[in-house]
Amino acid sequence: MPQLRLCHVEELPEGSARGFGIVSPGRDRMFLVKHQGVLHGYLNDCPHWPGSPMAWRRDAYLNPDATRIVCSGHGAEFDITSGRCTLGPCLDQFLAPVDLEIDHEGIVHAYLPDTQVGPHARG
Ligand code: FES
Repeated sequence: MPQLRLCHVEELPEGSARGFGIVSPGRDRMFLVKHQGVLHGYLNDCPHWPGSPMAWRRDAYLNPDATRIVCSGHGAEFDITSGRCTLGPCLDQFLAPVDLEIDHEGIVHAYLPDTQVGPHARG
């Protein structure tokens, strides 16, 4: 299972999201969200149209008040903690979670499914 080094746990501010693992220009493999002090990782792949990226611009994975993950494709909203779609065309479907690990230096690592990982991690 490919491992991707993401960032230091303190780098991501509360209520923000950030993409990692570039697979093509403007598209990240996965994204991280910090919500209520907890990090959540998901693949950048909308369950409505598998293979479709979610953000309309870099790191734009959340609604304006940072309470939901949103897909720019057709406006689906997802619970940040569970990844479940709560509004939109893929209601009750789930984002694909990414296993995370924080090492002794506070660096967050992601364990991605066995598919292509982009050569550049943002960190
Ligand atoms: S592609 Fe995400 S809501 Fe349609």
